[in-house]
Amino acid sequence: MLNMHRSEPNILITGTPGVGKSMMSSMLSQRTGLEWLDVSKIAIENECLEEYDEEYQCSVLDERKLLNSMKGPMSEGGKIVDYHSADFFPERWIDIVFVLRTDNTILYDRLKDRGYCGRKLEDNIDCEIFQIILEEAREYYREEIVHELTNNTPDQMMDNVNRVCQWLEQWKIDNQQTYAPDRAILISESFPVARSPLRITNEFRDSWIPSCSKFPLAFSTRETSNNVKRHLGTLHHGDQA
Ligand SMILES: Nc1ncnc2c1ncn2[C@@H]1O[C@H](COP(=O)(O)OP(=O)(O)OP(=O)(O)O)[C@@H](O)[C@H]1O
Ligand SMILES: [Mg+2]
Repeated sequence: MLNMHRSEPNILITGTPGVGKSMMSSMLSQRTGLEWLDVSKIAIENECLEEYDEEYQCSVLDERKLLNSMKGPMSEGGKIVDYHSADFFPERWIDIVFVLRTDNTILYDRLKDRGYCGRKLEDNIDCEIFQIILEEAREYYREEIVHELTNNTPDQMMDNVNRVCQWLEQWKIDNQQTYAPDRAILISESFPVARSPLRITNEFRDSWIPSCSKFPLAFSTRETSNNVKRHLGTLHHGDQA
């Protein structure tokens, strides 16, 4: 189905602390060009951190303030966010969710190496054993957009990154959107009468999909690709259909 809101998808990488969310997000961002939003950095920059929790040795987050700070960038699309909770971001922001999973013993060592101990270490290991984040993701998001990825070894990390890249390519095909910096074109199955792109007036397009006025031209998928290419070749920014 055509995504009316975003030219590129937003990806959520979630899982228990230490499963490799940040590492994977960074690799994905480099491979795909999607922007990785560093939630911790955004929280600090926008003063979203409240008092310090001594037991868990971390600051308490002003969640509402953080979400407000992220609303703008997320609505643009093309973002990778990683977060240790799967029910934090509004569902409409997210196109796909990857839940990273790591074997308990491996996770234990990773967290110990980071200096975690006591209650903080135990709670995080329990969280992974009882697959809390996976269950949370399956309850909060549509089940078909939630994918579990095992992430114990560097090889598995590479496989996971490749898998997300494949998904991204397929998303672009499924959503059938072609973007160029100064020529935005919407190709849709939804236009009922579009035999020729020149017959789609701005008025018609705006009444059919009000949010689409940013698209200078609209084609139905019944248009031949040659037709689309011809218009791509001749259209310039600001041209009207
Ligand atoms: N597939 C992997 N193979 C080997 N080491 C890994 C793998 N994934 C992550 N690591 C290592 O595990 C540690 C934790 O990774 P990372 O910081 O990405 O986790 P995280 O999920 O972002 O944690 P947090 O929620 O606390 O931010 C890092 O030292 C990283 O190098
Ligand atoms: Mg991280």
